[in-house]
Amino acid sequence: MLSPEDNEILTRVGPGTIMGHLLRRYWTPALLVSELPLPGGDPVRVRLLGENLVAFRDLNGTVGLIQENCPHRGASLYFGRNEGASAAPTTPGAGICGLRCPYHGWQFDVDGNCIDMPSEPATSSFKDRVKAKAYPVHESGGLIWTYMGAPDTMTPFRDFGTESLPPEYVSAGKTFSPCNWVQAMEGNLDTSHISWLHQFNAIDDIPDDGSDKPGYLSVDMSWKIWRHDRAPRLEVHDTWYGYRYAGIRTTPNGHTHVRITGYCVPYMTTVASIPFRARLSMFVPIDDENCWRINAVAQPPRNPNGYGGGHELFDVTNYPYVKRTFGGIRGRRWTAENEYEMDRAAQRTETFTGIPDFNSQDLMATESMGPIYDRSQEHLGTSDRAVIRMRRILLGAARALAAEGTKPPALAGDGHDFTTFRSAEKILEPGEDWRILGTDDDPTVQEAVFATGQN
Ligand code: FES
Ligand SMILES: [Fe+2]
Repeated sequence: MLSPEDNEILTRVGPGTIMGHLLRRYWTPALLVSELPLPGGDPVRVRLLGENLVAFRDLNGTVGLIQENCPHRGASLYFGRNEGASAAPTTPGAGICGLRCPYHGWQFDVDGNCIDMPSEPATSSFKDRVKAKAYPVHESGGLIWTYMGAPDTMTPFRDFGTESLPPEYVSAGKTFSPCNWVQAMEGNLDTSHISWLHQFNAIDDIPDDGSDKPGYLSVDMSWKIWRHDRAPRLEVHDTWYGYRYAGIRTTPNGHTHVRITGYCVPYMTTVASIPFRARLSMFVPIDDENCWRINAVAQPPRNPNGYGGGHELFDVTNYPYVKRTFGGIRGRRWTAENEYEMDRAAQRTETFTGIPDFNSQDLMATESMGPIYDRSQEHLGTSDRAVIRMRRILLGAARALAAEGTKPPALAGDGHDFTTFRSAEKILEPGEDWRILGTDDDPTVQEAVFATGQN
C-alpha cells in the first residue's frame, strides 16, 4: 500500500506537480506519425501530461506541437487552417507556413512564432512579441515524440532501436484507457495475473509437445505452465534503466520456467517473450485520469531459429474477438459502459473472465479500479514485488529531483545503450542465471543480433 500522500505524488502529472516535473525530463510519445500523414493536412488535438496541445504537419512537412488555445483570445487552433502565409505586407517570403487561427486569422509556425497578424494594422510589430508555447518534436519508430521540460534540461532522444529501424518493421499503435497511467502500467509488471485473468479451460486440451524441458519452450507450453503454477515467485534485478524481474514458475515436469519483463523509467515496459524481445509497451499520461497504452516495435524481429514453436501469444487463445491488428489507433468496442461484453455463461464454463477480448480483460481490471485507485486501501503480497519496486523508483526519482535537483535516471547522454532493454522467457538449465537472459551476454542474443550483423 501507499500513503495517500505518496499516491498523490505517484499519479498526478500536470504542470507544477512533483511527478509531472520528473516526466517532463523524458522524451514522450505524443501521437502516431500516421495521425499526421501529409504536409498541410488536418491538425490533431493532443492532450499530454494534462496540457492541451495541437499537432500539425505544416506545408513544408515539419511537425509542430503547440498550445491548443490561441495566444490572442483563446480560440482552439484545432479548428485552424494549416496553410501558407498570406500576402500581408509584414509577411516574409515563400516557404513561410503554419496554423492560422479561425477567429481573427493570427498564424503560428511550428516553433510557435506568430508569423502573421492580419487583424492588426500592417505597420504593427505586435506579432513579433506574441508567441505560442511550442514543444520540440522528434519522429522515430512511427511515433512523434516531444520534450515538454525546460529547454536547458533537455537531453538527447533515447534510442531503443527505432532510429535505425527499417521502414518495413515500423509499427506503432495506441489504445485509449480511462484510468491513471500508473495503474495501467502495473498490469504489465504483474506476471501473476496471466495465471488468472487471461485463463481459459481449453488450455487443458493443449497436447504436451515435448518442450517442457530446459531450453526454449513453445508458446503453447508457456500457456500451460502459467496455468499449472498460479503463484509465481518474483525476483527483481535493478538495472541502470530501472529493473528487470523474473516471474518464476515450476513446470508440470518439475523444471524452472522464467518470464523476464523489463521496466524503464518512467513508463516503458517490455513484456516477456520467447526467446527475447525488445518491443516497447508504454503507458503515457493524457492527464491524471486517462492514458494512452502505446505499443511500438523498436528493433527488427530477431528470432531466426523460430523459438517459441512458431506460435504467437494469441495463436493459442480461444478468445473469439482477439484482435491482432497492431498499428494505428485501436478502437474501443469493449468498455466499462457495455461491461466489456462480458458473458457470464462463458465465465462459468470457458474462460476466467467471460470477456471475449484478451486486451479488454486487462482494460477491465485496471479501469474497474476507478480513475485513480486509492492505494492506501490495497494489500500487497509477494507477487506484487515488481509493482512495488516500480513505485519506489518513480517516487524516489521524483522526490530527489524536487528536493535536490538530482538528475533523473535513464536519461540519454550518459553512455547507456537503450537497445539493450529486452525481455526474455525460457526454461532454465540447472544452475542457469536468469539475469543473463536477453542481455548482450546471452548466447541466444549474440547469435540472433550480433552474428547476423543486424545490430
Ligand atoms: S483568438 Fe485566435 S486570432 Fe483571435
Ligand atoms: Fe494482461
